[in-house]
Amino acid sequence: MSELIRLEKLTRYFDMGRGKRVHAVDGVSFSIAEGETLGLVGESGSGKSTLGKTLLGLYDKTAGSVIYKGEELPAHYRPKDFLRMANVMQMIFQDPYASLNPRMTVGEIIAEGLRLKPDIQAGDVRARVTAALERVGLHAAHASRYPHEFSGGQRQRIGIARALIMEPEFVVCDEPISALDASVQAQVVNLLNDLKTSMGLTMLFIAHDLSMVRYISDRMAVMYLGSVMEIGKAADVYFQPRHPYTQILIASNPEPDPGREKQRLSTPIQGEIPSPVNVPPGCRFAGRCPKVMPVCREKTPELLPLVNEDRLVACHLYTDAVS
Ligand SMILES: Nc1ncnc2c1ncn2[C@@H]1O[C@H](COP(=O)(O)OP(=O)(O)O)[C@@H](O)[C@H]1O
Ligand SMILES: [Mg+2]
Repeated sequence: MSELIRLEKLTRYFDMGRGKRVHAVDGVSFSIAEGETLGLVGESGSGKSTLGKTLLGLYDKTAGSVIYKGEELPAHYRPKDFLRMANVMQMIFQDPYASLNPRMTVGEIIAEGLRLKPDIQAGDVRARVTAALERVGLHAAHASRYPHEFSGGQRQRIGIARALIMEPEFVVCDEPISALDASVQAQVVNLLNDLKTSMGLTMLFIAHDLSMVRYISDRMAVMYLGSVMEIGKAADVYFQPRHPYTQILIASNPEPDPGREKQRLSTPIQGEIPSPVNVPPGCRFAGRCPKVMPVCREKTPELLPLVNEDRLVACHLYTDAVS
């Protein structure tokens, strides 16, 4: 499979004044192949949403780059860049309540991106809105209704239709089911999976439910305080996590299939995720890591390949073992 998108040391800080900077995304590098789904997991506050938005140009890049089909995208998007990239990359947001304008009809919401195209005809817009609604399991008649008339699961379908009407190649799904009732979560995940196949999409799938990410993703990346700690095949990372942070994250995640209940670690995840304002030197996880060594507090481990394994880990435990 050929590479579709590559991040090279992508970095996004937020300046908070008085010399305070939030290191929300700090030098993240990975690539996603055409047709692949990369799952991105990590606790709340680890920088997943900021990564997704920076990658899409919704936030300016502080440093580093995004390379799409071999072309480096601008650090700061101008209106023409948004126009051009809207046909290529789209985002499905976490909260289907907050992300839909309550004063617009569903048809207007879904058509918003299309109207950016200067040469599009009104009849064409209507036909494409109908097709987009049907694609997500809704009906043409829903176009004249308002978001409040729909359930959470239906609103997320509207959000998906809004993104997919642009016929993108690449979609960032930012926790698309975490605001939904458990009973409709599986339906929305299955819809996304079906659309991915039928439309040939490439996806970055952000979530904190690891078992769901394992199910939907080809590979999985684990993020902590703005950095990627481990990345590899989803089943490898899920069933044989190597980074101590991944091990704890997976052990503290409830396994939905009782037949596969894994042994719980005796030590649950300790302490809170530290503030990304004062990032300590060395490994970001050192303060909470059960396997911490002196070197971990001094030197930041690089994300490096493990010998004889198809994965990368940023941990000094494996430094001797790396090629
Ligand atoms: N617009 C913003 N301004 C300042 N800080 C932000 C902003 N957005 C996110 N952050 C901070 O950046 C860090 C990462 O946040 P976020 O990307 O939302 O993480 P996640 O999606 O993994 O929960 C957090 O410390 C958060 O408070
Ligand atoms: Mg988020």
